[in-house]
Amino acid sequence: MEDAETSFPQGFLWGTATAAHQVEGNNTNNDWWEWEHRVDSLCAEPSGDCCDQYHLYPKDIKLIADLGLQAYRFSIEWSRVEPAEGEFSQVALQHYKRVIASCWENGVQPIVTLHHFTTPLWVSTLGGWENPRTADLFARYCAKVAQFMGNDVARWCTINEPNMVSTIGYLVGQFPPGKRSRLARDAVNSVFCDAHAKSRDAVKSFSSAPLGLTLAMAEFQVDVQSADPDEFAMAHAKREQGFDGLETCFLESAIGDDFFGVQTYTRERYNAQGRMKPDPDARLTIMGYEYYPQALEATIRRAYIETRGVPIMVTENGIAVVNDQERIEYVDEALRCILRCIEDGIPVEGYMYWSLLDNFEWAYGYGPTFGLVGVDRETQERHIKPSAHWLGKVAQANALLPLR
Ligand code: BGC
Repeated sequence: MEDAETSFPQGFLWGTATAAHQVEGNNTNNDWWEWEHRVDSLCAEPSGDCCDQYHLYPKDIKLIADLGLQAYRFSIEWSRVEPAEGEFSQVALQHYKRVIASCWENGVQPIVTLHHFTTPLWVSTLGGWENPRTADLFARYCAKVAQFMGNDVARWCTINEPNMVSTIGYLVGQFPPGKRSRLARDAVNSVFCDAHAKSRDAVKSFSSAPLGLTLAMAEFQVDVQSADPDEFAMAHAKREQGFDGLETCFLESAIGDDFFGVQTYTRERYNAQGRMKPDPDARLTIMGYEYYPQALEATIRRAYIETRGVPIMVTENGIAVVNDQERIEYVDEALRCILRCIEDGIPVEGYMYWSLLDNFEWAYGYGPTFGLVGVDRETQERHIKPSAHWLGKVAQANALLPLR
């Protein structure tokens, strides 16, 4: 008999995720490559050959299957498929068709993301995501891909974390195009919401596979010791400012979608002064995030409420640590969050660990190790970590297991 406390519902999907620019290598025709190679680059190092997944995908997909996982979320690189405006590369489309076929041959469901942070250089030259026309250009590319892949894709994610591209790229200035303007960030948010709607329609005209948007979501907490009502109100206001611009139109845009992709790594705490740093004795990950796997419960609940009941898929959750045992503990706690949500009637359809490989962590370069599998970037050898075997066994059992 199944134990309701530790078992996941039948059909719960277990997988792992990557993104084209973080694993493929030599994506030279997008805004990130250009950003990495600027003289005054804020990036720790360029992406270079990455994990050479452009060539090694058959091995990586077989590895996912051998571990016992059932799904692979990866992204298609727009700048490869449409290297110049209106020029579609049949060779690139064929490549991704082979990646998808390789998933099915291995019994792995392909979950395809159509935009994961990188934008073709020709699109940035036209004004990038600040230009309302980008939504139409993106939808046209999505239609091409969907027409080519048709029903071979198990699920579609239109845009990965548009809120991170807009906030870090256009408000904080650490991602391309490096702007620092609230107006620009707000404009980009609305272009992304438009792009989600238009790409959804474009994909849906060629594919009946479930489709959703993914969002970066943290648990937002108010932390006030004092009983002073003003201080309390101020902390709440600061917390609202934290939300402001991060979730805006996105959760609303997702209403009516087939699923919603929650992507959570930690919590953010606010007091009357604003966002707090983690406590001095807090456990931190390589990213500097507070170790707080419990955040996933609050974000799933919020996403479910705000989208008015769209089923949830955890499309990213993970941790960058050196000690692999900590990864196991973190994921175990995150899975308990999912079980509590399911128990309360929230349909959570699957869990995609971020990431399959130690890969290119954007501005941080190759320092943060999120992978279930390590990569020797000289030889491109893969080194399977104990957490990968553990997660594979959890997937096979469809239930929590001892932390070994
Ligand atoms: C992104 C990934 C990234 C991960 C860890 C998410 O924001 O979608 O590309 O590697 O978080 O930072």
